[in-house]
Amino acid sequence: MLLDTYGRVATDLRVSLTDRCNLRCTYCMPEEGLQWLAKPELLTDDEIVRLVRIAVTELGIEEIRFTGGEPLLRPGLAGIVERCAQLEPRPQMSLTTNGIGLERTAEALRDAGLDRVNVSLDTLRPEVFQRMTRRKRHGDVLRGLAAGRAAGLTPVKVNAVLMPGLNDDEAPDLLAWAVENDYELRFIEQMPLDAQHGWQRDGMVTAGDILESLRTRFTLTPEGSQERGSAPAERWIVDGGPHRVGVIASVTRPFCAACDRTRLTADGQVRTCLFAREESDLRGAMREGATDAELARLWKVAMWGKKAGAGIDDPSFVQPDRPMSAIGG
Ligand code: 5AD
Ligand code: SF4
Repeated sequence: MLLDTYGRVATDLRVSLTDRCNLRCTYCMPEEGLQWLAKPELLTDDEIVRLVRIAVTELGIEEIRFTGGEPLLRPGLAGIVERCAQLEPRPQMSLTTNGIGLERTAEALRDAGLDRVNVSLDTLRPEVFQRMTRRKRHGDVLRGLAAGRAAGLTPVKVNAVLMPGLNDDEAPDLLAWAVENDYELRFIEQMPLDAQHGWQRDGMVTAGDILESLRTRFTLTPEGSQERGSAPAERWIVDGGPHRVGVIASVTRPFCAACDRTRLTADGQVRTCLFAREESDLRGAMREGATDAELARLWKVAMWGKKAGAGIDDPSFVQPDRPMSAIGG
């Protein structure tokens, strides 16, 4: 079990498969991209499967999310999914992707054992998409989403980040579109994770702003007791149901107290939190011949260093050295 010193148990593992991406979202990367990890620094497919096996069979991980960068850029993705699907107990597996390439790969990924996809899409307007991602790929994303739904990678979730002056007027349109297309929309507050360190507290669109904007067109009722447990999204029933919308207030209402996550970067470092400033090197230990038991032990010890909370809203908050694309979303 991956227990931290605050009594939280991690059951959800996010595995970054690459730090590369074919988009350049302004809240994530600079135009020119980043200094990518060199191939020898990346975990191999075998190394990833081994660490996932240890996490699932020895450390109580129940759910695996493959992330990036853009995980569809990893050639071995379907093979990794297929091998992880054979583990006992079988983990739930999902993919957080920008959707580009999903049109071609959704069926193969489902056949390999993938359960669900989360696709990032911030706007319905191709020209705004191009300004936000610096690429003309809006159509690819829409087709990827449809392919994910057709392949049964459902519920297909859509992650949207609102940026002031760009798409902050689009929340109701995005929700109407998601309801019509049977996608489950979740808004995520913009977090200070961009490589350029351009995030500003004053500039961000808050969960409160988003809900206010949605309520101009929809009736939202809180789902259940509004107890979030470890689920970061606060969910609302739209116009009496059955559709729902989530709002992830990662900055204004962080869910750290119930966090059930642990992370593995594409170069084999355990991170206890997106905002952690320390990492624990499993790749080095593995390549020096560590046994499964030794790796499991290192992972457990790493989790003891997990902080109570990220404190993004705190004046003393320091952004992590590595950007989101290198940590895994
Ligand atoms: N703040 C909030 N969300 C972000 N994402 C990437 N960078 C940020 C950021 N700085 C989102 C992506 C994707 C998910 C993995 O995280 O849009 O949906
Ligand atoms: Fe790529 Fe995701 Fe970063 Fe956008 S947010 S540039 S899709 S890694």
